[in-house]
Amino acid sequence: MSDRKKVYVTRELPEDAMKLLKSKFDVEVWQEEMPPPKSLLKEKVREVNGLICLLTERIDREVINAAGPQFRGISQVAVGFDNIDVEAATEKGIYVTNTPGVLTETTADYAFALLMAVARRIAEADKYVKSGKWKVPWGLMMLLGQDVWGKTIGIIGMGRIGSAVARRAKGMNMKILYYDVVRNEKAEKELGAEYVDLETLLKESDFVTIHVPLLPSTRHLINEERLKLMKKTACLINTSRGPVVDEKALYKALKEGWIWAAGLDVWEKEPTDPDNPLLKLGNVTASPHIASGSIATRTRMAVMAVENMTAILEGKVPPNLVNKEVLKVRPSSS
Ligand code: GLV
Repeated sequence: MSDRKKVYVTRELPEDAMKLLKSKFDVEVWQEEMPPPKSLLKEKVREVNGLICLLTERIDREVINAAGPQFRGISQVAVGFDNIDVEAATEKGIYVTNTPGVLTETTADYAFALLMAVARRIAEADKYVKSGKWKVPWGLMMLLGQDVWGKTIGIIGMGRIGSAVARRAKGMNMKILYYDVVRNEKAEKELGAEYVDLETLLKESDFVTIHVPLLPSTRHLINEERLKLMKKTACLINTSRGPVVDEKALYKALKEGWIWAAGLDVWEKEPTDPDNPLLKLGNVTASPHIASGSIATRTRMAVMAVENMTAILEGKVPPNLVNKEVLKVRPSSS
């Protein structure tokens, strides 16, 4: 019998990451596209030493409590980790890691692309041409959008990704407002970003873009009352987590013209229901949670997750440990 440590992986990873992982551990991979059932996760954590998972897996207290004493860590292939009960993991001495940094620029590229697409109605234009609706050679009033250049962007959450979006906005000569629970003096100094309260941000921005994690305090942060503060010409962009926006309220806002349009990469439930009324609106540009989805970045994320897992199973403090308090429960051996 091999004395190599065992890792369960909840989806096939890019080749470079898989090679690296297999060079160090005994690896078993869930082969389907849909997430594995909870019963299987419980069974696996009872047996293996580590779990590499995606944000689609709900790693709740029940799964964590099923872990055997040999189980040391959960390495998530994503920066967000609201799907994991970190508190329960910490109590049990289980390390939790994520993949920050490597996806910052790619996610900011996408957020800005979505902002531009919404402003200039690119998804609608694409459908218009492909469905044969384009009859007039050039329409003075055809598919008119909003300017981006020189407008005001309101960034909710000025962390790594928010700051990267701000850099792009600066290149577009935009006025940058931001709101966060902590001030970001670097963004203020280097990008001229102005710290305002959320109400001011919503009232004054032409584009509102969200870059906060999902926490009890950010769930439905954008609700009916706050959408009512926004300009009628404003666009809302969400590439963070779906539940940060109250979709029912957003539907009303878009349908009744409180705001002009929205670009949504994330949804309250994923995949969103094909009957979600938001999908019937022309002023919604929709995508399936792909903001970090470049070929290079997804590989970098997976390799980083493997490196985190390697450190955990070698008894080291992993580079991207989310629950530092776990070191008090189970100190690293190095
Ligand atoms: C993607 O949404 C991530 O959190 O990495």
